Order: sequence, then C-alpha cells, then structure tokens
Amino acid sequence: MEVLALIGSPRKQGNTDIMADEVLEGAKAMGATTSKVYLDDYNIRPIAEVADKIRKVRPPIYYWYKDYYSAIDSSHAFSEYSRRVFGKNLGQHGFSDLTQIHMMLGIVQLNASSSVLDAGCGSGKIAEYISDLTQASVTGIDYIPEAIIQAEKRTALKRDRLHFQVGDIETPVYDNESLDLILSIDSIYFSDPKAILACWKRLLKPMGRMAIFYLSMDGSDLSIPLREISLSYDTYDLSRQNWEHQQLKYTVASEMQEAFEIEGNSFVWENIMRESIHNQEAYDPTVSPMRRYLYIVKT
Ligand SMILES: C[S@@+](CC[C@H](N)C(=O)[O-])C[C@H]1O[C@@H](n2cnc3c(N)ncnc32)[C@H](O)[C@@H]1O
Repeated sequence: MEVLALIGSPRKQGNTDIMADEVLEGAKAMGATTSKVYLDDYNIRPIAEVADKIRKVRPPIYYWYKDYYSAIDSSHAFSEYSRRVFGKNLGQHGFSDLTQIHMMLGIVQLNASSSVLDAGCGSGKIAEYISDLTQASVTGIDYIPEAIIQAEKRTALKRDRLHFQVGDIETPVYDNESLDLILSIDSIYFSDPKAILACWKRLLKPMGRMAIFYLSMDGSDLSIPLREISLSYDTYDLSRQNWEHQQLKYTVASEMQEAFEIEGNSFVWENIMRESIHNQEAYDPTVSPMRRYLYIVKT
C-alpha cells in the first residue's frame, strides 16, 4: 500500500504537518510506503485565491449552522423548548425572547412604509414575525443557504413584503441610504464590528437606525467601534433579563433532554446547555462579567 500526504498548509512543522507525520508513521508501521508533498513548494498560487473565496462562502460555522437549521425545522422538541423559553418558536439561535423583540419594536416603531434588513436572520421566522406584526418590508440575509431556502418556501405568499438572500452581512448588496432599520440579533460576533458597523451606516437613510442585540461574556461592549465611526446610540441594559433567560434555558432543556435524544437531535440540546446558566442565584453584575445590551444606533 502507498500513502501520499498532500500538505495544503504553508507552515512546515505546523499543526497540519505534525498531524500528517503521525498518520504517515501509523501507515508505515502497518507496512505502507509513505511520501509527503508540500503544495506550497509548487507554483499553484491561484488555489490560495479560490480557498479564500470558499472560506467566505463556507466559513467554519457554516457546517454547524447548516445542521442546526435543518434539524430544528422539523423538531417537535425544539418547538416545545422554544415556546417555553422564547415565548414562541421563531427558530431562534440567540438570546432574544419575545419580550425583548417587542421592547425593540416599541422603540423603533415600524410601519408598512418601513424598510428593514434582518442581518443574520437564520431561517427568517423573526423577520417574518416582525413583518406580520408591523407590515414593514423586511429582507433577511444569512450565509446558510439551507436556512434561507426554508425562509423563502415558508413565506412565498408574502413576497410583497418579505425577501430573503443568501449573503454576507458584512457586505449586503443594498443601495446606500435605503434602509430605515438594520436589525442584528446575536449576529455581529463573527465579524469585525467596526467594519460591519461602517458598512451598515452607509445603508441607512438619514433618520435610519440600527437595533443590535449584543451579548458579552467578558464585559466588553460595542461602545468603542460605535464611537470610532461617529455613531450615536442609546443603550438598554438587558443583562438581568438575559441571566434569567439563560437560567430558564437550563431548567427547560434539563427536562427535555430525552425528547431531543429520541429525535436524534442531541447536538441541539448540548448547544442549548452550553448557552445556559446552571446556578439559580440572582444576577449580580459585581460578580458576573456577562452583559447583554440592546443598542439603538442613530445615523
Ligand atoms: C446566533 S445566530 C442568530 C440568529 C437569529 N438572529 C436569532 O436571533 O435567532 C447568528 C446567525 O448569523 C449568521 N451570520 C453570522 N455571521 C454572518 C455573516 N457574516 N454573513 C451572513 N450571516 C451571518 C449565522 O449564519 C446565524 O444564522
């Protein structure tokens, strides 16, 4: 038997190289002939460009979210869990329950002439809920095609006010000064916040706003990037509510482990448990660095 290792990483003796050596050693011990080629030693640069493009379209979190949105779409356990934890099954993978969403809607006051972008919309049920309530035109954007396909199928009869796009929220294809509201519920963590806020600022109409729900486990916040690009904002502190929300996640998910297991959706349950708080003490900001804010950002 012959085993060839093709090393795509440019770093010799980096993790990939060391791991490949281990595999080749094992193969050799089983009697194979082994060899190794470093692709970086050859003039195949265009591959690096292609790899960059693939990384943009298929970032590492793509694979997890693809499975997540596919699983929860037909999961009775998730439906019951989210009804108890969020108040309604809106396919959430965040921390905003109905109370937080209604609080935000009370501030931004949308109507049938409003134009809204939900950045990082997942399967779009929150966007749909908001549009149904306010009649606003809402476009949801997310880079998980499976989630966007679900959203498009579900809302086919509401195309006059609901649209969905597979795309990158760092570079949404939108005209400058065309939006009344950009909504981001737990979607800004995966990007450079300053770059994304600067881009979103250009898309807002002169009186437009952003509503950004932001969770920080280490006390950090968005005040620095917001100030750096001269955006004024109001902050609503949701830390205590979030603490209680994460405690509720623990209580409900603990009761529902078996229901998720029976469906083969243990990975969803495990993720919920990672996002929950196990102790039943009251929130104390002097002890916990966790903070959750709603930023209402003005142009
Ligand atoms: C934590 S989930 C929140 C989903 C939804 N807003 C909610 O509250 O349930 C984050 C979502 O943002 C999307 N996302 C993150 N970064 C993105 C990017 N650069 N472009 C498009 N979507 C992105 C993910 O695919 C995921 O669906």
